Amino acid sequence: MSQHLWSGRFASAPDPDAFDFGVSFPFDRRLFEDDVTGSLAWAEALVACGALSVEDGRAIRDGLLGIREQGRQDPAWIAGDDEDVHSFVERQLVMRIGDAGRRLHTGRSRNEQVSVDLRLYLRRRIPRLQARIRELVQVLADQAERAGASLMPSYTHLRRAMPVLVAHYLLSHAAAFRRDHDRLAAAAAEADALPLGSGAIAGTGYAIDVQALAARLGFSRVVTNSMDASSDRDFAATFVYACSLAMVHLSRLAEDFILMTSEEFGFFELADRSATGSSMMPQKKNPDPLELVRGKAGRAIGHLTGLLITMKGLPTGYNKDLQEDKEPVFDSEDTLQVSLVAARAVLTHLTLRPERTRVAASGLLLATDVADYLVARGVPFRQAHEIVGGIVRDLLAKQQDFGDLRVADWQAYSPHFAADVVEAVTPEASVAARRTPQSTSPGAVRAALAETRLWLESQFS
Ligand code: ARG
Repeated sequence: MSQHLWSGRFASAPDPDAFDFGVSFPFDRRLFEDDVTGSLAWAEALVACGALSVEDGRAIRDGLLGIREQGRQDPAWIAGDDEDVHSFVERQLVMRIGDAGRRLHTGRSRNEQVSVDLRLYLRRRIPRLQARIRELVQVLADQAERAGASLMPSYTHLRRAMPVLVAHYLLSHAAAFRRDHDRLAAAAAEADALPLGSGAIAGTGYAIDVQALAARLGFSRVVTNSMDASSDRDFAATFVYACSLAMVHLSRLAEDFILMTSEEFGFFELADRSATGSSMMPQKKNPDPLELVRGKAGRAIGHLTGLLITMKGLPTGYNKDLQEDKEPVFDSEDTLQVSLVAARAVLTHLTLRPERTRVAASGLLLATDVADYLVARGVPFRQAHEIVGGIVRDLLAKQQDFGDLRVADWQAYSPHFAADVVEAVTPEASVAARRTPQSTSPGAVRAALAETRLWLESQFS
């Protein structure tokens, strides 16, 4: 067992049963790069304020750069029986450069070190998740383009509501993922504050230029209160929330396509490469990847709940409970990353069956358009709704559709009906009649698709 960073005060070695329980190195090794980054900057700050000699500062820098290089060459080397990644890096440094390495921790606490590491980590990893989100939005836009003028029913209460363009439906998911993209940016912005200089809780006794240190590490500001900083994990919770909500959106997308690729709907065809078979039933083509995306949403939400509960009972200041922040953060990130990739893969190879969606978009779901037809001819909407409700009731009883009515039949319900009702009551006429920019009218959807493409381009530049 390596010597601990705090062994001086203790007469006996720690009980392995109690100590091993508190070890975080197996998972916080993921902060290795960030720990080195933070320490490089801290050493510079110590030199700048005269707390560390230039020679020691140089030795520490060279030592840390060597450690970073070794870790990059051989990630498996970042392992051992150290308590945490901070202890590992410091032990390696002392092994390389001796006493100078023992001066690095001057004026610094692991409480702020773990906070700065996690903030640096999130700020470099969030853009990777955002790139995966953009790739998914791109596929949705490509599929929307390919869908062209194809029509499908929309649903409320999972009952057919009104016809929409398939492209409009696909872009509805893109809209949610773009909010997730923004929410992750907000999480990165929240993590954008330097906690170093807070010491263990009361601040440090060295005149560290924290503004310069913040700038050196790419932070735009410094935390405002050292006591708050030592236990603030709000930025971690915000990140886990952003991941959870993105997983909720992925889960809903997955659920939609599980339904719509089923025999019952048959709106889209799942590619063979995106499906799995049954070990017993030869006919089966199961949407396992989509089901797993839906299932993993539960895990992400569990992490959010768990982290909030870890935080809620803590007295002011750092508490070891906070070590429980890292696994939810890392696993939320991993879960979202693999789910975005899987969802994109499935959507890329999905085929629309436009003849099936067109048929499903016709029929009694055009009732609102019939009511609007009457309103356009002066009938108050409530009355129009009543009249059309009566037509629907009769058609249902006869197992018929609007298309089965002749002009005389229409006029039996209201003298306001004329021959042109036949053209007015089609799914094409229905979508064309929408007027607002957020609607499914073909012009609005074309504009929305163009705007999505512009957004994607602006994110890449
Ligand atoms: N491994 C610890 C964590 O993840 C680092 C901070 C430890 N600080 C302390 N005072 N025990 O939170």
